[in-house]
Amino acid sequence: MRYLVTGGAGFIGSNLVDELVRRGHTVVVLDDLSTGKESNLDSVRGKIDLRIGTIVDLATLQSACKGADYVIHLAARASVPKSVADPIETNTVNIDGTLNVLVAARDAKVRRFVFAASSSAYGESPSLPKTEKMAAEPISPYGVTKYVGELYAQVFGHAYGLENASVRYFNVFGPRQDPSSQYSGVLSRFMYAVIHNDPPTVFGDGEQSRDFTYIDDVVDETLRACEAPGASGKVFNGGTGARATLNQVLKILQEITGKKICAKYEPPRTGDILHSQADISLARKVLGYKPSVQFEEGLRRTWAWYKSAYGGK
Ligand code: NAD
Ligand code: UD1
Repeated sequence: MRYLVTGGAGFIGSNLVDELVRRGHTVVVLDDLSTGKESNLDSVRGKIDLRIGTIVDLATLQSACKGADYVIHLAARASVPKSVADPIETNTVNIDGTLNVLVAARDAKVRRFVFAASSSAYGESPSLPKTEKMAAEPISPYGVTKYVGELYAQVFGHAYGLENASVRYFNVFGPRQDPSSQYSGVLSRFMYAVIHNDPPTVFGDGEQSRDFTYIDDVVDETLRACEAPGASGKVFNGGTGARATLNQVLKILQEITGKKICAKYEPPRTGDILHSQADISLARKVLGYKPSVQFEEGLRRTWAWYKSAYGGK
């Protein structure tokens, strides 16, 4: 099968591309390298068609989509605080760009469009765990854009018969998550700080919690969403069903790394949700998804990767 992966040079995208290639599929990646890196695709170089371009340009997408059986759409501005700082840019890439991907996928008559949605759609509604039936109440511009992407995907199903599925990823972590920006995911930031013997920064009191999900499970669920019968038109949670606070994470990291970790605490970030935990029954039932990597094991694998990539001892 032929897959177009937008954002395929990023953290989640490049891990997904590795697995697609391992399974013998043909892969086209479209990425503008704004946060992704060509080096993330080193292990599949020569085996994929990498196109450097933006999803904001429809003609680029139409060319990349030619002959595709599946489109997995990951390209986005992925940071909550960045969307608070610059909502227009996030809107342009995440909403205008997603609409372009959908139009190109529709015109290329692909079998299914799969969208990287986000648990940020749930926003601050207090009940846990989050089920897909709950109302979306995003509290950041980013959360709005990700929710709109799901709605657009479903509308393309109704209006044009384009098969679609959205997976609301919870907090994904693992090898290749880029720690280099202030907008990077918290576990990558923590690991990078610990490697350099710097104090990790915690925004808030550290009691906020997330359903941290290891990358291999996210890749597995996304590929199931491409193929599972009965998945089209649906939105699925992509998490583990558990959650950990940042203070608990720091404690486990201390045990894994053998280093004494003293975090510095700063005021909470605007747009942050407090708690997040997925109910994954729908994904279990329809996709046959079953997370297989325990949080602590995922942290160990991730720590091993950061040490080799960033030179920690
Ligand atoms: P990432 O920043 O590593 O990946 C995003 C990729 O999209 C990058 O390679 C980037 O260069 C590319 N990109 C950005 N703008 C583009 C444009 N205009 N045209 C083409 N390519 C563009 O982030 P990630 O963590 O791998 O996230 C992938 C997707 O998953 C995003 O859609 C994000 O919203 C979603 N998501 C991520 C998480 C998480 O915890 N990491 C959770 C929920 C949803
Ligand atoms: C993350 C993803 C987002 C995704 C969402 C789904 C990234 C960059 N963001 O957002 O794409 O849609 O999960 O649930 O991958 N924090 C610190 N110190 C730091 C960095 C962050 O304390 O150095 C805190 C934040 O204030 C927040 C928590 O850690 O409370 C998680 O932050 P972050 O990793 O940026 O993820 P989300 O905002 O949950």
